[in-house]
Amino acid sequence: MIRIIRGDITTLRVDALVNAANRSLLGGGGVDGAIHRAAGPSLLEACRGLNGCETGHAKITRGFNLPARFVIHAVGPVWQGGGNNEPELLRQCYLRSLHLAAEHGLKSIAFPNISTGVYGFPKADAARIAIHTVRTFLEDPRGMEEVTFVVFDPENESLYNDLLGEASLLK
Ligand code: AR6
Repeated sequence: MIRIIRGDITTLRVDALVNAANRSLLGGGGVDGAIHRAAGPSLLEACRGLNGCETGHAKITRGFNLPARFVIHAVGPVWQGGGNNEPELLRQCYLRSLHLAAEHGLKSIAFPNISTGVYGFPKADAARIAIHTVRTFLEDPRGMEEVTFVVFDPENESLYNDLLGEASLLK
């Protein structure tokens, strides 16, 4: 099942929420900053032990003070015009996050709109890549039952509604 929720990803009680991190995994602004604030300083301590993460890859920690049990830290590509493998790297972010969750036996996962903030990935293209990757994964879901797309800005909200249908919007 795929659903859309508008709002702050840090409030969701899911098995794993995905962070739009940078390669240091040591925090930042945007959704990354919100997740670290809500999880508390133990999240940063856990991230220090991960030795960063390559673009297009993902690593997992506990969720600490978050309602979510785990955080999957995925590093999206910085948009550089599209000729630098950005679409494939974004697809890999979603796919690796889903596989990592499934390997840990997790059944629900929530994604922010990775790379569409300060990293500047065009939102319509990013939405199509995200939805296509999740739908393809769910053909063989490996125990995954629920994937939530969390939309935060109005442009992403209308894009996801158009691509997935108004029926998927919960609030
Ligand atoms: N809940 C859900 N979505 C959010 C929230 C939130 N609380 N806050 C922002 N968004 P961005 P990126 C949306 O910039 O483009 C950080 O500094 C936002 O509207 O957070 O992947 C990292 O450390 C946008 O649609 O991530 C990296 O350095 C989406 O989250 C860098 O930014 C992603 O915006 C990563 O850039």
